[in-house]
Amino acid sequence: MAFTIAIDGPAAAGKGTISRAVADHFGFAHLDTGLLYRAVGARTLDGTDPIAAARALVAADLDAGALRGQAVADAASKVAVIADVRAALVDFQRAFALRSGGAVVDGRDIGTVICPEAEAKLFITASPEVRAERRHAELLERGQGATLDAVLAEIHARDERDMSRAEAPLRPAPDAVMIDTSAMSIAEAVAAATEAVEQRMRARGYPLPSGQ
Ligand code: CDP
Ligand code: CDP
Repeated sequence: MAFTIAIDGPAAAGKGTISRAVADHFGFAHLDTGLLYRAVGARTLDGTDPIAAARALVAADLDAGALRGQAVADAASKVAVIADVRAALVDFQRAFALRSGGAVVDGRDIGTVICPEAEAKLFITASPEVRAERRHAELLERGQGATLDAVLAEIHARDERDMSRAEAPLRPAPDAVMIDTSAMSIAEAVAAATEAVEQRMRARGYPLPSGQ
C-alpha cells in the first residue's frame, strides 16, 4: 500500500533528521532529494554542463559524504533554478514517492510539485539564526571551518534563491502541517512530525504500526 510523506522546508530546518526518524518509525523508505541537486551542483564545479549532469545522474551513485559542504550547497541551489535540470530529476523522485510500502521524501517542492497528492505533507521551519547555528555546529564537527556569520549569510542567500525562483519555488503546500523547530529538541520535533503523520493515517484509514 503506497503512502507518501512529503517533507519540505528551508536549509538546516531539520528535514533530514525528521525524515530519517519518521521513515524508521513507520518502516518506510527515505529519499533526500537535496542530494540529487547537490550531486548535479558538484559536477558543475568540475565544469560539467548542469543539464547533462542531471540527465546522467544515477541516484545509486550518490555519495552523501562528499556532498555535504557549503560550496556544493551553493552550487546545488544555482543549478536548481534551471527548469531542464529539475525536469530531468522528476521521474526518479515521483517513482520513489509512489513506491508501495510507503516513502518519506524530503526537499523543497515535494508537496507542491513532485507529489502534490502525497497523503501527508509537513513543512519544517526554524529561524535563520537557529538554522545557521545548527549548520555551523555540523560543519565544525566535520572539520569544515566557517564562521557563524558566513554560514548565516549563505543560508540567507540560498533561502532567497530557493523562494524567488520561477520554477518550483520553496513554499508550503496549502494543506501542509507547519512545524517550527526553533525551540524544539530533535526528540520534540520528531514527536510532532510523527503525530501529524499518524493523524493523516487515521483520517485515511491507513494501518498504523502495531501497538498504536
Ligand atoms: O535536512 P535539513 O537541512 O533541513 O536539516 P538537518 O540536516 O536534519 O538538521 C540540521 C542540524 O540541526 C542537524 O545537525 C540536526 O541534528 C540539528 N537539529 C535538528 O535537526 N532539529 C532540532 N530540533 C535541533 C537540532
Ligand atoms: O541540507 P540543506 O537543507 O541545506 O540543503 P539540501 O536539501 O541538500 O538542498 C540543497 C539545495 O538543492 C537547496 O538549497 C535547493 O536549491 C535545492 N533543492 C531543490 O531545489 N529542490 C529539492 N527538492 C531539494 C533541493
